[in-house]
Amino acid sequence: MSVEPRATLDHLVRPAVARISPYVPAETMAELCAASGLTPAEIIKLDANENVYGSSPAVARALAAQGSYHIYPDPEQTETRAAVARYLGVPAANVLLGNGSDELIHLLTLVYLDSGDEVIDFTPSFAMYPIYSGLMGARMVCLPRDDAFALDPEAGLRAVSDRTKIIFVANPNNPTGTFTPREAILRLLESGRIVVVDEAYAEFAPDSLVRDVLRYDNLVVLRSFSKWAALAGVRAGAIVAQEHVLAHFWKIKSPFNLTVPAMLAVQAALDDLAYLQNTVERVKRERERLASLLHQIDYLRVYPSAGNFLYVEVTRGSAARLRARLVQRGISVRHFAAPERIVQGLRITVGTPEHTDRLVAALRDLSPE
Ligand SMILES: Cc1ncc(COP(=O)(O)O)c(C=O)c1O
Repeated sequence: MSVEPRATLDHLVRPAVARISPYVPAETMAELCAASGLTPAEIIKLDANENVYGSSPAVARALAAQGSYHIYPDPEQTETRAAVARYLGVPAANVLLGNGSDELIHLLTLVYLDSGDEVIDFTPSFAMYPIYSGLMGARMVCLPRDDAFALDPEAGLRAVSDRTKIIFVANPNNPTGTFTPREAILRLLESGRIVVVDEAYAEFAPDSLVRDVLRYDNLVVLRSFSKWAALAGVRAGAIVAQEHVLAHFWKIKSPFNLTVPAMLAVQAALDDLAYLQNTVERVKRERERLASLLHQIDYLRVYPSAGNFLYVEVTRGSAARLRARLVQRGISVRHFAAPERIVQGLRITVGTPEHTDRLVAALRDLSPE
């Protein structure tokens, strides 16, 4: 048997993997420092919807108190699941925790999708849905959102075929912040397909469908501890669904997917709810102040947001260039090179009042080109 040189190993890669366009994350702090010539302390990072207030001090105390990590975590996540379920107001049997909600999106595609199956996505939306679905060889049926980025549930129902398995709705939507009212989602449930309501930003929004999973067996809700609980670096998310749905997830999840530090951090955070609710309120207040200041900038169109970020469209000049010039001034916001619909957009995480003031001053000063 002749052995191919390494350069040709690519022919061994699954076609579904070869076809994937990689997820482009926000730049790292090191990259931002290199681009701006500034130090980390001088840079305002408003590009990844992180919570600028940080996690509860109780989290640091809980992690410091855990001296050693030589024992595997509880694969059934019993204590942490009970705490999360109490917080969400559902039985623990309806909750499974993951290494960020990203892992749970991946598990959803592993449970439901075969090659040739279809997934409905209301675009623009979260970039990981097509990546994980594409890995399974599934076909994305992308239904464009309207001018206000609202989705049309009737178009969703019309797009359902024999091959449709999953309908994804990020609510609030990333990157646009759009909130979809519950009636629209209840309508989509009539499809009989798995309707995934990704509520990564639910704590900043007016409503959640998390308790509705008890009534609808095809409703799956995802929650994240990255944003409101400021645990993005820890990695913890929850999938909430009926027990018979979760049974398949229990079979295939890796046994120790939720690490001991993640369990400790989530439990400590939930024990200090007052701290977290206070930071959520501060973010929501600042979101409204930031929106009203950005409204006054004549080359920006600001969209309503129910998340911890705002989506703005740059109506004169190039959004990519504006973003690069903000980086020069030590302010990083998110720009997307694709899809076409959002290349003139910027997604701005809500920061502290000081962050808002620096950002708005820079935007007033920079004339678009
Ligand atoms: C809509 C949406 N879903 C899921 C995630 C993934 O979050 P996590 O950090 O819990 O993996 C994100 C992160 O930005 C998101 O915006």
